[in-house]
Amino acid sequence: MALITLRQLLDHAAEHGYGVPAFNINNMEQGLAIVQAAAAVDAPVILQASRGARSYAGDIMLRHMVQALAEMYPAVPICLHQDHGNNEATCYSAIRHGFTSVMMDGSLEEDMKTPASYDYNVDITRRVTVAAHAVGASVEGELGILGSLETGEAAAEDGSGAEGKLSQDQLLTDPDQAVDFVMRTRCDALAIACGTSHGAYKFTRKPDGEILAMGTIAAIHDKLPDTHLVMHGSSSVPQHLQDLINASGGEMPQTWGVPVEEIEKGIAMGVRKVNIDTDCRMAMTGQFRRLAQEKPDEFDPRKFLIPAMKELETLCRDRFERFGTAGHAAAIKVVGMDEMAARYAAGALDPKITANKAA
Ligand code: G3H
Ligand code: 13P
Ligand code: ZN
Repeated sequence: MALITLRQLLDHAAEHGYGVPAFNINNMEQGLAIVQAAAAVDAPVILQASRGARSYAGDIMLRHMVQALAEMYPAVPICLHQDHGNNEATCYSAIRHGFTSVMMDGSLEEDMKTPASYDYNVDITRRVTVAAHAVGASVEGELGILGSLETGEAAAEDGSGAEGKLSQDQLLTDPDQAVDFVMRTRCDALAIACGTSHGAYKFTRKPDGEILAMGTIAAIHDKLPDTHLVMHGSSSVPQHLQDLINASGGEMPQTWGVPVEEIEKGIAMGVRKVNIDTDCRMAMTGQFRRLAQEKPDEFDPRKFLIPAMKELETLCRDRFERFGTAGHAAAIKVVGMDEMAARYAAGALDPKITANKAA
């Protein structure tokens, strides 16, 4: 089966009022567990690869792996998406390697550390959109910078993320600027900043509206009801996985992620793509640790990987069900990239800016 584009998938999700998890992948076991979960519940899925994943597995391996998953599970529409592209070259090389969608993250400069100017973000995102749409690929842009409203900082644990202290203005996407950004860049999906950050250490307590600004999403959705919104940093950092890791020799300090019920509220307010990496890492690592502790004489990696895949599959099934993704795969007829390119060229996919509903 041809891979689906992000735009076609999120248009379907919007029409039917569901969200789609975008799970990060780096290897075969993650791919198998995620797509098996999708197949079990009849869900489409977004598999996304970071620049780190591309250098870990290699573009050729990733492409063949995802094509193999599509061949093994033809009933599952799979979108292959570049996560946090830092410049045009990253986005175009992804498309050349079979990705059907790219994120041009112009909220930061190419070093993925320096906050970028608004004009830089608009210009680079627009350039990527023109080129990607010409070949039918989709584009996610980002406005606002991911980081904690508690500390004003981006997560330290992943290699990318703004350096230094960020202001509230930078950490919360401005709804009026979001309208201008979508109009000028014509991106297919918009990643917004609302207090979430990458990694496990998002919040020092169960988040309330002060530190997880769901109101910002509501305000953006009010001005851009037809734009597909993306929530990054959306791992829930489940307590049972923290406990599993710590019960098996891990030393993760107590932490809180984004509660699944908050994501469900987001989906009701136009969030269509929900980025999850940390939870998947924790699911697998928790089982590796358990196995290593329970069977110190074990050395067959499959004995570690099988329970790790099962734990990941359970997690993914839960997210497909909670986000309403389950039950929709069979109804999706995948449109190829050539046809998507023709639709962009005809203006059929231009952003619809419905003015503020209240106006
Ligand atoms: O953007 C953050 C994702 O969790 C990817 O992380 O760059 O370590 O692969 P990574
Ligand atoms: P988490 O670290 O919360 O899983 O976020 C992943 C993400 O946003 C990838 O782009
Ligand atoms: Zn992200």
